[in-house]
Parts: sequence; C-alpha cells; structure tokens
Amino acid sequence: MLLHKKRLTYYFLASFSFILGCTLTLFVLHPIALKANSSPNVHNIRLLVLVLSAVKNLNRRDAIRETWAQTKEDVKILFVVSKDKSLNAEKLIHEDLLEVDEKDEYKLLTHKIIASFSSVYHINFDYLLKCDDDSFVNMPSVVNELEHMPKKRFYWGYFDGSASIKRKGKFKETQWVACDRYLPYALGGGYVLSKDLIIYIVKNRDYLSLFASEDVSVGAWLSPLNITRKHDRRFDTEWYSRGCQNDYLVTHKQNPEMMRLHWSHIIRTGKMCDKEFKNMASYEYNWSVMPSKCCVRNLSLIP
Ligand SMILES: *[C@@H]1O[C@H](CO)[C@@H](O)[C@H](O)[C@H]1NC(C)=O
Ligand SMILES: *[C@@H]1O[C@H](CO)[C@@H](O)[C@H](O)[C@H]1NC(C)=O
Ligand SMILES: *[C@@H]1O[C@H](CO)[C@@H](O)[C@H](O)[C@H]1NC(C)=O
Repeated sequence: MLLHKKRLTYYFLASFSFILGCTLTLFVLHPIALKANSSPNVHNIRLLVLVLSAVKNLNRRDAIRETWAQTKEDVKILFVVSKDKSLNAEKLIHEDLLEVDEKDEYKLLTHKIIASFSSVYHINFDYLLKCDDDSFVNMPSVVNELEHMPKKRFYWGYFDGSASIKRKGKFKETQWVACDRYLPYALGGGYVLSKDLIIYIVKNRDYLSLFASEDVSVGAWLSPLNITRKHDRRFDTEWYSRGCQNDYLVTHKQNPEMMRLHWSHIIRTGKMCDKEFKNMASYEYNWSVMPSKCCVRNLSLIP
C-alpha cells in the first residue's frame, strides 16, 4: 500500500516536472522564434540594391537616402563602403552600410564587389542591383519590370561587347589575356543579377580573375554561362548620361543636386525629367553578329 502511494507520488512529480519543463522551454524559445521570424534574413527581399560608395561620399549617400531610396517597394538598399572609423556615427543613424575589408581605390572595386557579394549571399533575395553612388534608380519601375523577367540565370543592363582593353588611366588593365576586346558586359552604372548568379560567383571566387573594372569582371566571370543577357536601353549607365528620359530605369552620372531635382519632379508630377532630352544616341545590342559589330549607335532610337 505504502509502496503504491510512493509510486503515485513519484508519477505525479515526474509528470509535473515534465509539464513544467515544457512550459519553461516554450517560454524561453518563444521570443527566439519570434525574433527569427522578424529578422531580415528570413523575410524574402525582392531586390537587394548594393550601392558602391567611397567613405568620403557622405553627401552622395545622403542624397540617395533622401530621394530614390525613399521607396515602398520590397527592396533593401545597402551602401558598400570600406571599413572606416569615421563611419561610426553614420552607421548608428542609418542601418544601411555594408562595410567590407577593402580599401577605397578604383583598382580595388572588383575586390569590393566580390567581398560584398560574399557577405550578402546568405540573405534571402530574388535579384541584386549593383549601382554607384552617382546612379539614380527608378525603383518602382525596376521592381515592376522584374515581375516579367526570368527568375534565374538572368543578367540585365546596358551591354557592351566591343569595348577595347584599357591600357592606361585609372581603369588600366594589365591582367587581361582572353582576347582583344572585353567580353560582353553590362555597364557598371547599374545592372541586375538573379540570386543564383551571385551564388555562382561566390562559390567560384577563389578561381576568378579580378580585373581592374568591376563590371568587366562580372561580364567575364559569367561569359561561359548559358543565361539570359538582356540589353535594355532604359539603363542609362554609360560614361556620360545620354540625357533624361522618363522611362529610364537607372540613370548614371547624377550629382546630389540632380538627384534632388529628379526627386522633386517625381513628387510633383510622377515623372523624373523636367524636360526630356538626349545628348547621345544609344544602340540596340545585336546578339547575332560578332561582338565587335554589336553596338551601332542609332540616333532615332528612344530612349
Ligand atoms: C542553354 O539552355 C537552354 C535551356 O536549358 C538549352 O535549350 C540550350 O541548348 C542551352 N544552350 C547551350 C549553348 O548550351
Ligand atoms: C543584326 O544583324 C543582322 C546581320 O547584320 C541583321 O540581319 C539583323 O537585322 C540585326 N538585328 C538587329 C536587331 O539589329
Ligand atoms: C535606327 O532605328 C530605327 C528605329 O528602330 C530603324 O528603323 C533604323 O533602321 C535604324 N537604323 C540603323 C542604321 O540601324
């Protein structure tokens, strides 16, 4: 009888401890689970934007923050900068700096790109847009267009297949041995890559040649791949801006003042340009001829 009672008490205590244990576990785990759900790493971002910027260009970053980065789209915008103590305050105010362990030098831009790809590729996103801190992005249009684009193996921008190898100046190339032109690449003022291509680059990074120009390098790294290369004249991403057209997706070589002007026009009228104009002809890329003949400018092409 006594033994029976003891056994009952034992069972009771055991069950009680078990239930208590479960409750406590739930209590402890619950906030962690909540936290994990609300972290940006779990939520899938449609478009991750990497803006390459030099430490000293705070004015340009602020112009972007006040203008095209003010978007309701499902995007995340990060400024890629070299690690620097002077950024501490800015880092606290805006949580949008991606610091990489590379110096701010033109010839290291490719190192910066590969370092930034490596530090974001674990984030959940569908596409990545790389641009510069003097690029103005029409965010709603880019995101909207992506609805109709391939989900994978996708490389989108303004392509050049006939660019001569730079032998002097700040983009001087000493390592290039592939052929006497650069391989077709999308110009660096702004181009989009699907996430799978970022993973491809990061996984192969130890074998890749890092050429002087970041955009030339990306074109070369992806050149043997069977992917969609979409040339789009709405990427105004050459060395000089071709003008102002309201349907530009990205326009390059814009200083902070121009960005603020574009933005005020967008707020007032929904359109970027005060007046549309053209400085330079663009071209449609012809993929069915040799790259040296790919890119014939044609004044009647708009934009
Ligand atoms: C590229 O991929 C497509 C679709 O899988 C295939 O039909 C085509 O033959 C491939 N092209 C080359 C050059 O491998
Ligand atoms: C590309 O070049 C070929 C050969 O010259 C020509 O037949 C074709 O019309 C061109 N395509 C475009 C889109 O210009
Ligand atoms: C220039 O583009 C227009 C409009 O697409 C086309 O009709 C014309 O044939 C093109 N000219 C050349 C030289 O390719």
